[in-house]
Amino acid sequence: MTVELLHDMKPEIAPDEAARQRFVSGLRSFVLNDLAADMRHAYESRVLPAFRKETGRDPVDGIEVHRALRGDPAFKAYSATRVHAQRMVWNSVAPVALRDRDKRRRAAEAVAAQPGSLSLDSALEMPSNVTAIDVHLMPGSYVGREQAEDTGAIYDQGLAVFSMGLMGRNLDDIGLSMSAYIKARYPDFAPACILDLGCTIGHNTLPWKQRYPDAEVHAIDVAAPGLAYGSARAKMQGQAVHFHQMSAETLGFPDASFDLVFSSMFLHEMPRKTIARVFEEARRVLKPGGLMLHMELPPNTQMGAFEGFYLDWDCYYNAEPFYKAFRDEEPSELCTRAGFAPDDYIQFVVPSVGAYGEQAVADMVASEGSRAVDSQTTGRLAEGVCWFGFGSWAR
Ligand SMILES: C[S@@+](CC[C@H](N)C(=O)[O-])C[C@H]1O[C@@H](n2cnc3c(N)ncnc32)[C@H](O)[C@@H]1O
Repeated sequence: MTVELLHDMKPEIAPDEAARQRFVSGLRSFVLNDLAADMRHAYESRVLPAFRKETGRDPVDGIEVHRALRGDPAFKAYSATRVHAQRMVWNSVAPVALRDRDKRRRAAEAVAAQPGSLSLDSALEMPSNVTAIDVHLMPGSYVGREQAEDTGAIYDQGLAVFSMGLMGRNLDDIGLSMSAYIKARYPDFAPACILDLGCTIGHNTLPWKQRYPDAEVHAIDVAAPGLAYGSARAKMQGQAVHFHQMSAETLGFPDASFDLVFSSMFLHEMPRKTIARVFEEARRVLKPGGLMLHMELPPNTQMGAFEGFYLDWDCYYNAEPFYKAFRDEEPSELCTRAGFAPDDYIQFVVPSVGAYGEQAVADMVASEGSRAVDSQTTGRLAEGVCWFGFGSWAR
């Protein structure tokens, strides 16, 4: 299932285009549920026994699972279909976004005077992790090529197809779930100033403004098209957010200016040396008692070899070259290396608010504090999704 977006820049979709998008969403669901289950069955019933017979042991990590599995027909069916489905996501929305450009411009102009702001920096040097590849096979990556102006719309509409309804109509389930957890777990924490790093179109920024309406909320990204679209998208939903074209490696904010520095699905798209600089910057701009918080893919160290392989698949076949190196890191060590104290580290797994409701988050906090990383659900965009969060308090 795909979703109809909530805001006024949602596209006018002809019936044949809607049918195409529903088909692509359905194909992704088939790959991520049925073909994934077939691949797992193939692994357990023939690949693993053959590996054990040859080596006398089990695979130690995802690399060995990948090597053993990649000649198997179930792996090939899963991988080939998933790559095609990914390309079809973008192909199913790009013509719609292009055709709708004028309507979108008018909708953005109509809310231009609403609270919130957009500041762009055309002199900003773009990092090669964004420009050198078509990240997750999205043509033109976050900066776009011939359809640069439509990149924000393509991302928004593409995510609606890609996420199969699991992110909600505003594609904000991560932000809603993470902020629900923080509010329930730390009721006395009332951030007055919030920063979202690598916000793209701000879809997971808006829930922080909704959760903490009195807070001043800022969101940064290096890519201008998404920011321009995201700023209009926020205004038409009555959310005053300040969008800035800025690198998370060199934040243009003074020391100790934020209570919460958040990111979502951001770190796995950058080299490790960039992550180190991003964490140091986050620590610099946090006030004492502030929180750095990242929603991310769960680390390989906390999952089995097959599950590690399953998530790292994107590194090899979905133009996500930094994915595995990030997932091989121990999140607590990323924090301490940037100068956060080991005792101030936090991590948790939160049930999706969209799938389970806000009460499930409150119940989890009240009962056990957090779920453990679950190989079947954590960070996997499949039924029963749960989100992994980690970070550190600042002193
Ligand atoms: C996967 S998207 C993040 C998506 C979004 N935060 C979410 O919740 O779904 C990664 C974003 O990071 C941005 N980005 C990459 N490197 C960056 C950097 N050094 N500083 C700021 N943004 C960066 C990209 O332009 C892109 O918009």
